Amino acid sequence: MLVSLLLACATGTATDSADAQIDPSVPTWGADVAPIVERSCSGCHHEGGLGTGDFTTYAAARPMAGAMASALGASRMPPPAMDPTCRSYVGHERLVLTAEETALVTAWAEGGAPEGDPIDALTPPSISLDGADVEVTLPIAHTVAPDTDGNEYHCQVLENPFTEPTYITGFDVLVDQPAVVHHTLLAIDYGGDAGAGSGESDLTDGWDCRNPIAEDDWGILHAWAPGMEPTAFEDGGLLVNPGDQIVLQMHYYAQPSDVGTIDQSGYRFRTAPKVTHTIAMAPMGPTGFRIAAGEVEDATEDYLNDYNVDITVYGVFPHMHTLGQGYESTLQNADGSTTCLARANAWDFGHQMTYLYDEPAIWHKGETLTTRCTYDNTTDSTVTYGEGTNQEMCFFLFYYGVN
Ligand code: HEC
Repeated sequence: MLVSLLLACATGTATDSADAQIDPSVPTWGADVAPIVERSCSGCHHEGGLGTGDFTTYAAARPMAGAMASALGASRMPPPAMDPTCRSYVGHERLVLTAEETALVTAWAEGGAPEGDPIDALTPPSISLDGADVEVTLPIAHTVAPDTDGNEYHCQVLENPFTEPTYITGFDVLVDQPAVVHHTLLAIDYGGDAGAGSGESDLTDGWDCRNPIAEDDWGILHAWAPGMEPTAFEDGGLLVNPGDQIVLQMHYYAQPSDVGTIDQSGYRFRTAPKVTHTIAMAPMGPTGFRIAAGEVEDATEDYLNDYNVDITVYGVFPHMHTLGQGYESTLQNADGSTTCLARANAWDFGHQMTYLYDEPAIWHKGETLTTRCTYDNTTDSTVTYGEGTNQEMCFFLFYYGVN
């Protein structure tokens, strides 16, 4: 009551009746906004988190109310994720706000951002992997030393913890320094020569793996970005043999004040000696394309499943670089219909992740998978396909199985 009165006076709209100022149709922090912010924002917007500002208390969040509403209205926040109406995936409730939720936060901000009944400080979600049984971290704590653009790609070979062929059935990233960890890529080098692609032979301290980001003879096990939940398969897993090299690539993004942070992130795995479905990860997408200066252009590729088996698709890590705008992967079914596998109407290079479907999709033999990426080339030169961040890629990097 007191707060409403003060606000009413401050905005000069007080009338004779103080009660008239309490508009019950305006959503409040305590009853309406806090649950949305706790679930979908506070994971990044807390003290020491990745996002600007701390939204975990009313006092800290209130001055940000207008900025929150405009970030939501412009679809800048939460950072763009795949559209769950294309295909439903684990965690979409947290990663994508519904139109009603956006309207509610906006109405709250426009209505003076009232507190309502006071509530406790919010608890940022911490979702961890059930049944994790193995933990590995970077063997050497790394002192973050980014380029002038703030980015650093650092690779180290992890200790391979397996003495028998083992299936990883779940992945959970152990982020040591959330303020600088921007994404991780976990790879497996079957050739046992990780670093060779970057011209490195002495790997005692890890190496700079910006280009190439992934070497030709690597398989990919997992990719992660902040806000992503653990990846857990129900009855499948990815095989790692005792002799394989497991490579962790850390993408750090550091503000000048965070340069020199010491990070020792890692992974927790859930493992099994046997699984019903062997799962692997493979990339697909157009290569060799060019995007003319100042143009909005598409890169498209069709893939025919010309194996003699149906392929089960469990999930996808869609990948483009900084010029990416739109993304779509679609199955052309034999009966002429289509099945949407991934779609994004907006893109944030810094917020890429693995989307594990609620229900796997079947890519039948003889059917075609089409991936189309849209780019806005705001630079004044032609941009070509390639792994450099100043080049572009268009990948459907997916988890699949054939049994
Ligand atoms: C995955 C992490 C992440 C999540 C989740 C997230 N943010 Fe952010 N947010 C950021 C980062 C990083 C920045 C600063 C860089 C930028 O602006 O992109 C930011 C900046 C902001 C800003 C200030 C700059 C601007 O664009 O206006 C606002 C306001 C904001 N976020 C609101 C929200 C709201 C509201 C939510 C939840 C509905 C949310 N964010 C969820 C990471 C996140």
